[in-house]
Amino acid sequence: MLELGTEFSRINQAKAIFDDIYIQEDPRSYFSVLGDLDYMIPDVAEPVIRQILSAKASVTGTRPVVLDVGCSYGINAAVHRFPLTFGGLRHRYARREMKAVCSEELMRLDRNFYSSWPDVGLARFIGLDISAPAIRYATNAGLLDQGVVADLENNALSKDDARIVRPADVIMSTGCIGYVTEKTFGKLLDATEKTPWVISFVLRMFPFDELAKTFAQRGLVTERLAGVTFIQRRFRDAEEFENSLATLAKLGVDSTGLESEGLFHADLILSRPEADARAMPLDDIVTVASGRGRPIAPRYVHVESGDGLQVVTLEP
Ligand SMILES: C[S@@+](CC[C@H](N)C(=O)[O-])C[C@H]1O[C@@H](n2cnc3c(N)ncnc32)[C@H](O)[C@@H]1O
Repeated sequence: MLELGTEFSRINQAKAIFDDIYIQEDPRSYFSVLGDLDYMIPDVAEPVIRQILSAKASVTGTRPVVLDVGCSYGINAAVHRFPLTFGGLRHRYARREMKAVCSEELMRLDRNFYSSWPDVGLARFIGLDISAPAIRYATNAGLLDQGVVADLENNALSKDDARIVRPADVIMSTGCIGYVTEKTFGKLLDATEKTPWVISFVLRMFPFDELAKTFAQRGLVTERLAGVTFIQRRFRDAEEFENSLATLAKLGVDSTGLESEGLFHADLILSRPEADARAMPLDDIVTVASGRGRPIAPRYVHVESGDGLQVVTLEP
């Protein structure tokens, strides 16, 4: 297991462990297990990532290179580059016919599937993950141009891997901070030739101070988008719910109306050179139309009672 900073490893005890679905040869278990928990952060993050990449491209004047940290099976690249969603992909893999094929065949089908869509992405994607099978899938399926298999929490970045991450203009992550800390990001920033922007979707239970400090040491200022949060997924069970609420309370983070409603929420945090932050305020480059999830209306159901069937209103 990882040797994380004591604070993150303590906080991680509140969260369910999914290690085995990250190391399968293909993403079917990933979509099935996380999909069942309404995992949606790649989908709610994508419109925001698109706006930030558009702003970044206006600075660099070229198509940015994005390094997705904890990229897993390349899902952020998939939903950014193609008119696809995590939800839609989940349905693809839930089909009986798709469950029946072997991983090699699935990889071949997916490569054809992705190459059959117009690439509407604003960037080229490279990815880093501790999971070799996930990186192999993501590169073979054509989602990542290049991938790095590394655990920078515990190891140095090799020369070959440093060469791959060097051109990154943007470093991004969803669902990964907590597994990785400032150790990983510091090593990556030190290996890049430009000063990248760092887009972090991070659960509100993981304090960002050490990451912000590491970024500041490398000339980046850190801003958090105010007034909006992004749903990651629902809590797996009562234990994860209670533990997460207790963790947030200990940190002095008010969970009312957010995690208290049964869902993990992430913040959007952008770190970039001060001159860029001043020239393009975060509020000007990002407009959020969705993120907290759609308002859910009450549902009406029949319930058997002593007087026959009664209509009961289930409040959201
Ligand atoms: C919840 S998944 C998020 C995947 C993807 N970003 C998404 O949102 O769908 C967390 C990912 O972090 C990866 N991970 C865990 N520890 C890591 C480490 N030390 N370095 C890099 N990746 C790591 C896991 O293998 C997994 O793919």
